[in-house]
Amino acid sequence: MIKPAINAVSVSRPKRLRGTVTPPGDKSISHRASMFNAVANGVARVTNYSTGQDCASTLRVLRGLGVRIEASPAADGRGDTLTVHGVGMHGFKEPDDILDAGNSGTTTRLVSGLLAGRPFQAIVTGDASIRSRPMGRVIEPLRKMGATINARKDGTLAPIVFQGGQLRGIDYEMPVASAQVKSCLLLAGLRAEGRTLLRQPALSRDHTERMLTAMGASVGSDGLSVWVEPGELRSLDVEVPGDVSSAAFWLVAASIHPDAEVVVANVGLNPSRTGVISILRRMGADLEIRDERTVAGEPVGDIVARTSRLRGVDISGDIVPILIDEIPVLSVAAAIAKGDTVVRDAAELRVKETDRIRATAAWLTSAGVSVEESRDGMTIHGAGRLRGAACRSYDDHRIAMSLAIAGLVSEGPMHIEGAGAADISYPTFWRDLELVGGAIG
Ligand code: S3P
Repeated sequence: MIKPAINAVSVSRPKRLRGTVTPPGDKSISHRASMFNAVANGVARVTNYSTGQDCASTLRVLRGLGVRIEASPAADGRGDTLTVHGVGMHGFKEPDDILDAGNSGTTTRLVSGLLAGRPFQAIVTGDASIRSRPMGRVIEPLRKMGATINARKDGTLAPIVFQGGQLRGIDYEMPVASAQVKSCLLLAGLRAEGRTLLRQPALSRDHTERMLTAMGASVGSDGLSVWVEPGELRSLDVEVPGDVSSAAFWLVAASIHPDAEVVVANVGLNPSRTGVISILRRMGADLEIRDERTVAGEPVGDIVARTSRLRGVDISGDIVPILIDEIPVLSVAAAIAKGDTVVRDAAELRVKETDRIRATAAWLTSAGVSVEESRDGMTIHGAGRLRGAACRSYDDHRIAMSLAIAGLVSEGPMHIEGAGAADISYPTFWRDLELVGGAIG
């Protein structure tokens, strides 16, 4: 397998794309499976745990809180198997060092819900990207619940210092549609006095609600409202389905390449995550879902993607939160499509691992595609073609992998600076790129 050891790679267009790819375990479900089992009663086995660095960051933080977790790679090299020894809802130990969440926003925000109101001090920080991302969105409501929390820049930026407090349930109007914020507050609600009720502006991924319910928590929802009652969790064995956000790279690659048929196996198809499939189909992509089944309470299937003729579409409104991570790779599809693709209501992209609107507009421009940025999105004028170019990932995994997919169809090679960032969510990405026929230089 070629690993971008020097962090710079070139990807060139192959004649054909063929093969079967199995994406890594879902990142969102992996984080939750380890975190929730860590505070449950009992011992749980988690299979196909994501091998990405973000999910390793979650394990590091949980171990720092005294949780015993054994991890071993699966025999086929895909996914890890974990044994998580739950410490119960009140069993965390005071960490003897700062907890390092690395590049992971999900780790930082969900762990904040687990640390608020504990009878000890804990400090969470991460890399430069994490230290620039908005944390006020969890700190403010956690303070409303009674937690004592301090953070840099007037309580908005990590490092975040948790210093106890007594949690009580709140009725909270969420200003952003964020599964991370929702999950953080539901986790805090499990240890609060009384009910915690959250009112969301739009639906976001619901893995937390599903998993907590399966673990015996009293969680409910009605339209955009979701609530939780305090209570304990029972440990739960979880078989993590493949990550639809990782699958998206191959769905786009096969749809835009002139001679392609790629099967993406074992893909999680939770409807709160499949916006990318709906949008690609709306663009004209030929995507066939086979062998739909249920694994660990989540729908799963195999997807066959084939060469298609795409047209530009509008991406806005309620679908945005359920495909937010896929907009960088959908932008590659938009560049090859006929007509304009307009992205709106996606200001959240500006506060991801990097400003993904700016990063995407920058590389599209150097690849010869005309694009206009707006405050909450962009308009991409589908050019039907991409020029090869030298582009930066800004150390953002999804930008790095989107550039590689662009390289599979661009007229000259795509030179990617910061390619190693793919390891954050998809360490086997470069192997899979070669597996379907991609040429890496
Ligand atoms: C995630 C939620 C999303 C997403 C992130 C993972 C999760 O963030 O972008 O990659 O696992 O809950 P927001 O909920 O902040 O939009």
